[in-house]
Order: sequence, then C-alpha cells, then structure tokens
Amino acid sequence: MKVFNTIKEMRELLDTHRSNGKSIGLVPTMGYLHEGHISLLNKSVSENDITVLSIYVNPTQFGPTEDLDSYPRDIENDKRLAENAGVDIVFIPSDSIMYLENHFTYVNVNNLTANLCGSSRPTHFQGVTTIVTKLFNIIQPKKAYFGQKDAQQALVINRMVKDLNIPVEIITCPIIREKDGLAMSSRNKYLNQEERGQATILFQSLQMAKNIIIDGERSADIVKSSIQQSINSKSLAKIDYISIVSENTLEDIDKIEGNTLIALAVRFGNTRLIDNLRMEVN
Ligand code: PAF
Repeated sequence: MKVFNTIKEMRELLDTHRSNGKSIGLVPTMGYLHEGHISLLNKSVSENDITVLSIYVNPTQFGPTEDLDSYPRDIENDKRLAENAGVDIVFIPSDSIMYLENHFTYVNVNNLTANLCGSSRPTHFQGVTTIVTKLFNIIQPKKAYFGQKDAQQALVINRMVKDLNIPVEIITCPIIREKDGLAMSSRNKYLNQEERGQATILFQSLQMAKNIIIDGERSADIVKSSIQQSINSKSLAKIDYISIVSENTLEDIDKIEGNTLIALAVRFGNTRLIDNLRMEVN
C-alpha cells in the first residue's frame, strides 16, 4: 500500500495504472474509519483493480460553529485498516494542498441541497461537492463509493455527476449498523454512555415508521408525528428535522408513495446524528 500526501507522484502512478488498463475505484472519507467505511473499501476492492482511499477532513463542509477542530482523527489506525482491506493507495493531503491561497471556485447543486441537512447546514453541501469534484479530478476514478447513511449527500453527488457529465459511476452502499441498530458514524465517538444508550431510538423510530407504512398508513404527517413522539420519549434527544421526501426531488411529500426517503437528524448533547430509511411504496 502506498501513501501519498501530495498530488503529483500519485497522479503519475495512477496514470501508469490507467495506461495499463487498470480500473480505479475511489473511496472518499474524512478518516476515523469504521465498519461502514470498510464495507465501501471491500466493495471497491472487489470491483476494481486499484482502490484509492482518500482521507481528508474537509474544512469547507463544516459551518463556523461545527466540529471541524474536534473531528476524530486516527491516521495510523486508518492506515492499518486500509491495508487489511486491500487498499492500494491512500491519499492524505493537507489543507494547503487541497485549497490554494486564492481558492475562488465552488461547485453548487441547487434545489437538492435546500432542505433536510441543508436547512441547518447551509454551506455544507457546497463544501462536499467542491471537494468531491476536486478528488474526482485528481484521482480520475471509474467508480466512487459513498454510504447511504448520508442519503442526501449520495443523491446530491449523483445529481452533480449527471448534470456536469463527470465520467464517474457513483455506487451507494447500504448503511452499516451497530448490533443495537445505531448507524455507524465517526461522530458516535462523541456520545457519552447515556446518550449512546438513548441514540438507538433513531433506528427504532425508523423501523416503527416502516411498520406503520407497511400496515397501510400513507399520510406523511401522521408518520412524522409518530416518529417525533417516539424520539421525544428520550430525554436527551433534540430533533433537528424529521422529513419524508420523494427520493428523486428530496421535496416533502404529503402522501407516501413511490420511492420515499424518511430522513432525520437528532442532537444528543453536542452530537448531531443522522439516519434514514428508503422505501418503495405502492
Ligand atoms: O462523507 C464524507 O465523509 C465526506 O462528506 C466526503 C464525501 C469524504 C467529502 O469530504
């Protein structure tokens, strides 16, 4: 496994691989790898000749009061896990490599970034789409792998590559959960024991919503208030949003039908957790 902190030599190696007909898969991450990331790496390794893992805590996707400085980091452990997963190249750039002094250019996907996480994190997706575009241009992968836990991010990136004719196939992989249902996230590390205990309510509430819909309920308002009631039964939970949207437009729906995404964000203390459920409803 080769580790690069700068672009030029990594690009030369990737050019050689490409001219030898090797396919390149990219797994972009902010590090502090968990089993969710490992599932993306495994998929890339199984589908490509060369897998590149990027580890970069991207400052432009954090708001001014968010957790950029405290975001968990453990590069040595990440490298070990990457090596075990069969990663060929790890790219760990610094801020000065990724953002030159006069960085003026940003990529914006309109509409899809206005609601859900976009409402409380207004500059987040611009940061994500900008850094992902840069990573695509630097690494030029054939396929890139993202987790369904960040459902809105995956849809926004899919839209971006379609709208801008970026020749990268986006693969969205299922949410990986802890045994008690909590979606794996690097931010779970912030939770104290009591918060961690209560955080399982997110998955439980989504499962409950699924069952209500399977039993025939089609009113988004009714399903949303059941989720709200269930989450509010936990004393430490502070709901940021509960949304039921069309998966194609990410717009709120009144009647649940077709490809539906139930997405939520809830704070436990200072930690903001997200989770979601996709359903195809007839
Ligand atoms: O999902 C993430 O970890 C980040 O948003 C990503 C895609 C690596 C961009 O910084």
